Amino acid sequence: MADFDAVLKFWGPVEADYDNIGNMVLTRLFAEHPDTQKLFPKFAGIGQGDMAGNAAISAHGATVLKKLGEVLKAKGNHASIVKPLANSHATKHKIAINNFKLITEIIVKVMQEKAGLDAAGQTALRNVMGVFIADMDANYKELGFSG
Ligand code: HEM
Repeated sequence: MADFDAVLKFWGPVEADYDNIGNMVLTRLFAEHPDTQKLFPKFAGIGQGDMAGNAAISAHGATVLKKLGEVLKAKGNHASIVKPLANSHATKHKIAINNFKLITEIIVKVMQEKAGLDAAGQTALRNVMGVFIADMDANYKELGFSG
């Protein structure tokens, strides 16, 4: 699908700096949607001011972006990547689907600032995330998780 390529065009700067960009994504997600921080027991009690320099937040941000990179590079053939992610996020981490929509808008903004994601790229990223989220949701439903 062309949308995957349109986003991959801007992935270089993200891939070159997974830790810092990952940290920015999570720090901003927690700032704009404070309830999302409560879904991460391991980040309980970390204040906004301490997040930018927090190695655990950077490491997890990098983990998320690396996985998203795998999804992008699979260009739609991502069933084997999405299935275990849906399993863990539904049954172990208990993350309602709406949270993936929240992080989508954060990634769009951070990529705009840090990777120069232009208007067409932003639309493409929203489309790609829409496909990813619909596939996560289908797995959630199979698992009986009403997130
Ligand atoms: C863990 C990817 C969105 C909450 C993980 C892991 C990966 C990952 C690869 C570690 C392996 C695993 O447990 O499956 C992603 C991707 C996302 C995403 C690619 C979307 C772009 C979210 C959102 C939330 C969330 C929106 C909640 C607001 C968690 C939690 C963990 C986790 C709580 C466990 C952290 C720990 O204690 O180590 N995620 N995630 N994820 N994710 Fe996500």
